[in-house]
Amino acid sequence: MHTPPRYRQIAQHYLAAVRAGSLGPGDRLPSLRELMKLHGVSLSTALQVCRTLEAEGWAEARERSGYFVRRPRRLQTTPMDEPAADRAPDPAQFVGIHEKVSDFVARRRYNEVRLDFSIARGAPALYPAEALRAAIGQALRRRPEMLTLAAPSRNRTPFREAVAQRAVRVGMTLAPEEVLPTNGCIEALNLALRAVAQPGDTVAVESPTFYGLLQVLESLGMRALEIPTSPQTGLSVEALELAIDAYRDIKAVVVVPHLQNPLGSVMPDAHKARLAALCERHGIALIEDDTYSELLDAEAPPRALKSFDATGNVIHCASLHKVLAPGLRLGWIHAGRWHARVEMLKYAQTRSNEELSQTAAGRFMATGAYDRHLRRLRERLRTQRERTADAIAQHFPAGTRINLPPGGLQLWVELPGRLPSMAVFDAALREHILVAPGTLFSNGARFDHYLRINCGWPWSDAIEAGLRRLGGIASERLARMPGRAAEPAARVRPQATSASAA
Ligand SMILES: Cc1ncc(COP(=O)(O)O)c(C=O)c1O
Repeated sequence: MHTPPRYRQIAQHYLAAVRAGSLGPGDRLPSLRELMKLHGVSLSTALQVCRTLEAEGWAEARERSGYFVRRPRRLQTTPMDEPAADRAPDPAQFVGIHEKVSDFVARRRYNEVRLDFSIARGAPALYPAEALRAAIGQALRRRPEMLTLAAPSRNRTPFREAVAQRAVRVGMTLAPEEVLPTNGCIEALNLALRAVAQPGDTVAVESPTFYGLLQVLESLGMRALEIPTSPQTGLSVEALELAIDAYRDIKAVVVVPHLQNPLGSVMPDAHKARLAALCERHGIALIEDDTYSELLDAEAPPRALKSFDATGNVIHCASLHKVLAPGLRLGWIHAGRWHARVEMLKYAQTRSNEELSQTAAGRFMATGAYDRHLRRLRERLRTQRERTADAIAQHFPAGTRINLPPGGLQLWVELPGRLPSMAVFDAALREHILVAPGTLFSNGARFDHYLRINCGWPWSDAIEAGLRRLGGIASERLARMPGRAAEPAARVRPQATSASAA
């Protein structure tokens, strides 16, 4: 069992008191001397407690008076609206995202980027490079022929066994041979869609959704039906029900139940159960993209959507790309009733994945070191998200809205006055700062005034300066919009509305 250091345990104790309301903004925290006495710790530990609370935005030092509870700036911004879910969505469209994404990729390639807030990935330093290198070395020492012998097709490998074993924690029961290794989650999604639908078919997706999925649909010649999605609870099951009634030709639904990209929403279990039953009832295949659930800050791991599936109608897709090893393209698919078809498609498409990375990753995942790594990663990401949200609340123009998701790598930011995010993107790129404009996350124009900001970089002065500059750019662009007087940047809203996603 991982025990956090003493200073963090004490900081968490005071944080719990703030969250419970027993300590409110403006209340004085115990002095260093009191902390030492109360908790039997040294001066340096007491100081670390105060500095931790200060660094995470929960306390401020006042000269000669000590530390006081502060309401973090991020909690003073207004949360985003829920989408209107009571009308049928716009008809399904053939996706035309590729041009927008190619333009974005080309501009990224041909411009010097010094600060990249556009990706959805952690910095290399957040992943256990040394342990992975050792696991690769050990796998090769044990079976040196791994690089020269074609991968034998074996039903039980360390990787398949580790995935099957971990699946039990999230309510799934599957045999190792039901886990098909893939080239990342993106190949798993490609296979799932090809197994259940044909070119021209309609696939329901969340709106907004990550542009990789829209690209996959476009490349397969399928139509996307964008379903309103809550920043808090994910895909609206009511809106999907309306869509099923209105357009009777939906073949599949793709959903990211945990830490949806870009919203960060988390679907409650009751919604997952309703969604699984709804799709089953209508004979619609349900594809679960489980890329991010290991990054969720929760007491217990969230139940997989697949765990609500009694008939094999849910296809579960996941990957290690964001959580363990961005350098390995290692994902997997558990294809339910489409297992044989997916196995055939995978064989036809790319043959089996190479063995070395699977053996090393599988052995690492079977040790306690994997969970220790995940706990550390979640903790670092939480701090980075909170600091990024604070910086946005401080430096972006008044009226900017964010939701603070309970985990993950990114923040979804709504710019005020429907400020086009492409204008911010262009101006920022001229200053070597890259962001992901909202226009990439939908086939339509609904999210053109949003930005997705990556929080995967360890906090630094350069990151803070970049976010300050982005806020400045947004303020300048906003002031230039017709009919708008210049608004001061960095204004914090006085009202205390909670921005936290449950
Ligand atoms: C929701 C979601 N699914 C799938 C992927 C692609 O995953 P992988 O890199 O494992 O192929 C991403 C990457 O950004 C993602 O955000």
